[in-house]
Amino acid sequence: MANHNKAIKISKKHLLGIQDLSISDVNFILSEAKQFINLNKSKNKKLDILRGKTQINLFFEPSTRTQSSFELAGKRLGADVMSMNLNNSAIKKGETLVDTAMTLNAMHPDIIVVRHQDSGASNLLSQKVNCAVLNAGDGRREHPTQALLDALTIIDRKKKIEGLKIAICGDIVHSRVARSNIYLLNMLGAEVNIIAPSNLMPKDIQKLGVNSFSDMKKGVKDCDIVMMLRLQNERMTSSFLSSNREYYEYYGLTPDKLNFAKEDALIMHPGPMNRGIEIDTKLADDINKSVIKEQVELGVAVRMACLKIFCE
Ligand code: NCD
Repeated sequence: MANHNKAIKISKKHLLGIQDLSISDVNFILSEAKQFINLNKSKNKKLDILRGKTQINLFFEPSTRTQSSFELAGKRLGADVMSMNLNNSAIKKGETLVDTAMTLNAMHPDIIVVRHQDSGASNLLSQKVNCAVLNAGDGRREHPTQALLDALTIIDRKKKIEGLKIAICGDIVHSRVARSNIYLLNMLGAEVNIIAPSNLMPKDIQKLGVNSFSDMKKGVKDCDIVMMLRLQNERMTSSFLSSNREYYEYYGLTPDKLNFAKEDALIMHPGPMNRGIEIDTKLADDINKSVIKEQVELGVAVRMACLKIFCE
């Protein structure tokens, strides 16, 4: 595999958000990721590109997919990977993010992958440590590797993003996945429809260059992709919904609503899924329409690419 020089190929030291990336940065990450897709399906998945490098995963919020995928990605590239169990750490004794970062920094990691409940936490961390920082989700701000893996999945299935019509539906106001996807899909030339009840729709959404809808059938009409999002109950300060049942009726993806999209429309979801709340369980598992498993699969390839590029 070619030995790329980060200084030439990518304009940033850290991966904090899609907003910081240029289109050539994005294309470079996606083309690197494509090279790992087949490796991840093969019998021998181990490379030594990151041998001798230390990767620390610092997850202050629960995670299944993102954390395991970053861990596997680092191991497949040969890095020494340490995933901090924050339930047993000094965080529980009141240590701040910055103190934790300074402590870890003293151990000379080459890369820190961080997820934190505060928007901007990864930016703060990046100013305090010497190594590269990858944002694995900060509050409601950005989740760049999720958007990159979503883009890779769409390209893998539809062969392009430019000119596609993509609906993102659900709890937009609390969703870092929505924000990163809006930036990235716009950059890559898609038309983005945002669908949410008014209290889960950001007030200034139109400034992001998207169309907004409160009627799901109108929002998914003629779309190539329907991306569903989870209700982020943990970020809701008051009661946003009268009931899950009512939410499902208006905003849950059901066959009758999906019928308004293109016949070959694909269903996406970043997980974790609440079946029967934002998505019909049969649709979620429909192998002809749902690419949810492929998103997880390609997530490892995208994270390998990001670790390789930002660690080198
Ligand atoms: C998302 C997240 O944590 O932002 N999950 C993920 O990373 N796959 C979305 C969510 O939690 O609903």
